[in-house]
Amino acid sequence: MTDPLLQAHNVSHTYSRRNRVTPALAGVSFSLQEHEFVCVVGNSGSGKSTLLRILGGLLTPTGGHVQFAGNTVRAPQPQIGFVFQNTNLMPWRTALENVLLPLELQKSLDKHDRERASTALALVGLEAFADAYPSQLSGGMAQRVTLTRALLQSPALLLLDEPFGALDALTRERLNHELLRLCRDRKQTALMITHSIQEAVFLADRVLVLSGQPGRLQGAISVDLPRPRTLEMLTWPRAGALISEIRDCLATSAEEAMRE
Ligand SMILES: Nc1ncnc2c1ncn2[C@@H]1O[C@H](COP(=O)(O)OP(=O)(O)OP(=O)(O)O)[C@@H](O)[C@H]1O
Ligand SMILES: [Mg+2]
Repeated sequence: MTDPLLQAHNVSHTYSRRNRVTPALAGVSFSLQEHEFVCVVGNSGSGKSTLLRILGGLLTPTGGHVQFAGNTVRAPQPQIGFVFQNTNLMPWRTALENVLLPLELQKSLDKHDRERASTALALVGLEAFADAYPSQLSGGMAQRVTLTRALLQSPALLLLDEPFGALDALTRERLNHELLRLCRDRKQTALMITHSIQEAVFLADRVLVLSGQPGRLQGAISVDLPRPRTLEMLTWPRAGALISEIRDCLATSAEEAMRE
């Protein structure tokens, strides 16, 4: 096996604000191989977003450390792309201009960059909306612009924090399909947080279960369903067994936390 792209070593985090101390994560260790798609599920408040921000170098853990491509992560990395639940689009910029923003901050744009951005928008079905402003886009379209913006930088690792959480179930299903297709075509390594166990089983090679306050890693379940995935596979007995396994892992850890 090759060296992992990302490794979390005993990562812990405690927030301290004024007189309030909140332990958010405790002793989380795992690794992520190149080309792997991993989902993290867990109850609200189990430290999922905290973990993602630490992995991406946006937050320094109070314990342990993270290695990315062999180096300790101490700051945001250009090789790591983010998609947050909140789309963070600039309202005064068009879809195309929003997609180009990170590149623009690095260098002066040329014709080639604009072409690449237009092609990337077309890949997610937004060619007709390149000149639209965020207020003219639906929630799903805005999230696709955000995804395009992250992918345009060809990040070695894509981190997604409940990217489709605010969308209706049908749009969410469609975007999950698009995300899978894009990740497969690009052999994109990705780690995505979701509240939905079904979504995790549909998308992931492996599901990490985080639970408790502070959040601890309770299990890592390999999803051995074939690819390309279809929604129909979620009705297979094997998918049902995986969903139960993840649910049990969450429930057992919640019971243990109550007893503590
Ligand atoms: N900036 C912050 N300052 C202080 N405490 C914080 C901060 N961010 C998160 N916390 C606390 O850390 C814990 C974990 O929060 P986090 O946002 O990582 O959970 P989460 O699993 O992402 O939850 P959700 O599913 O609701 O998004 C919570 O108890 C939360 O109150
Ligand atoms: Mg969160």
